[in-house]
Amino acid sequence: MTDALAPSALAMVPFVSVDDMLKLVNAIGPARMMAEIADYIEADFKRWEQFDKTPRVAAHSDEGVIELMPTSDGETYGFKYVNGHPANMARGFQTVTAFGVLARVDNGYPVLLSEMTILTALRTAATSAMAAGHLAPKDAKTMAMIGNGAQCEFQALAFREVLGIETVRLFDIDGAATEKAARNLADSGLRVVSCATPEEAVTSAEIITTCTADKQYATILTDNMVGTGVHINAIGGDCPGKTELHRDILLRSDIFVEYPPQTRIEGEIQQLDADHPVTELWRVVVGQQTGRASADQITLFDSVGFATEDFSALRYVRDQLEGQGCYQLLDMLADPDDPRDLFGMVMRAAG
Ligand SMILES: NC(=O)c1ccc[n+]([C@@H]2O[C@H](COP(=O)([O-])OP(=O)(O)OC[C@H]3O[C@@H](n4cnc5c(N)ncnc54)[C@H](O)[C@@H]3O)[C@@H](O)[C@H]2O)c1
Repeated sequence: MTDALAPSALAMVPFVSVDDMLKLVNAIGPARMMAEIADYIEADFKRWEQFDKTPRVAAHSDEGVIELMPTSDGETYGFKYVNGHPANMARGFQTVTAFGVLARVDNGYPVLLSEMTILTALRTAATSAMAAGHLAPKDAKTMAMIGNGAQCEFQALAFREVLGIETVRLFDIDGAATEKAARNLADSGLRVVSCATPEEAVTSAEIITTCTADKQYATILTDNMVGTGVHINAIGGDCPGKTELHRDILLRSDIFVEYPPQTRIEGEIQQLDADHPVTELWRVVVGQQTGRASADQITLFDSVGFATEDFSALRYVRDQLEGQGCYQLLDMLADPDDPRDLFGMVMRAAG
């Protein structure tokens, strides 16, 4: 290619590959990075009303779902592509994979393209920890982790870093998943207890995280497993027909959600009447509504994952680009010298 045909500066978009993301996470440290992303997520929850919001656009199939998650704060637009395929693990694929984009609203040009499979795990755990900071008992030291798949260690580390959790009690129907998580968390500073049953895992836990993947109405927690005063961080119920908690638990809990129009379709509350009262998390974050009001209260964060959280995580990654140098420039936008001469650009490349 001659210089005349080389891409212009405007054509180039910073791209954070999986390799770059791995370097970034290890340069910063996963726990610190999740704590910092939690601050970005919280900052964006504080300006919730500035964002364009819509339930994510979901394409369902028998095997899973592919979703687009757009939002904008008026200055920057972002979206994530993400899938959820519970049967994937058995076929040698990830359950969840993702990538995302930030773009300038004023001219529509992308300013960042990033892998988001790893970033989604970081932002999901960061969101859970941020929410638990407002909802969990203040002196919580023990968390039960039910479902020890890809998200598990991220959740455990974020709760250690942000909330000061000291013990994590693991359970998975697949013992190999628990062994993997226990191995990965061995030097994390957490006391790790591998449990044989979900009942054993929730014993003495002030926080219960459910993080399982099954495309059906599952009952990971039954009503008798949830004592008063517990905070439930329910991650895995995030699609129509895919829930984790027995309905009776919901009826005893104060329920906090990200964006009600999306959570009513996808969250645990799809099991309840459409007008069942829930509290939007952003209202707690800005101090308009109370999070945990009493020691006896069961608080439930019915997490499905919302577009602003991905936007915040991408915003965090963009802010690390120069300092960490963790990106390549991708020739992503066709940018002819004369903006109208797109066809001329094609002809010049033919030589
Ligand atoms: N809320 C969010 O923002 C958000 C973000 C990412 C992922 N998710 C959801 O979180 C869930 C977990 O994701 P992942 O990437 O860790 O999936 P994964 O497939 O890697 O792990 C899921 C684990 O759950 C275990 N499991 C299944 N049924 C169980 C049961 N009855 N009891 C105990 N364990 C059981 C499986 O053996 C597996 O180890 C998925 O449902 C995913 O869709 C939610």
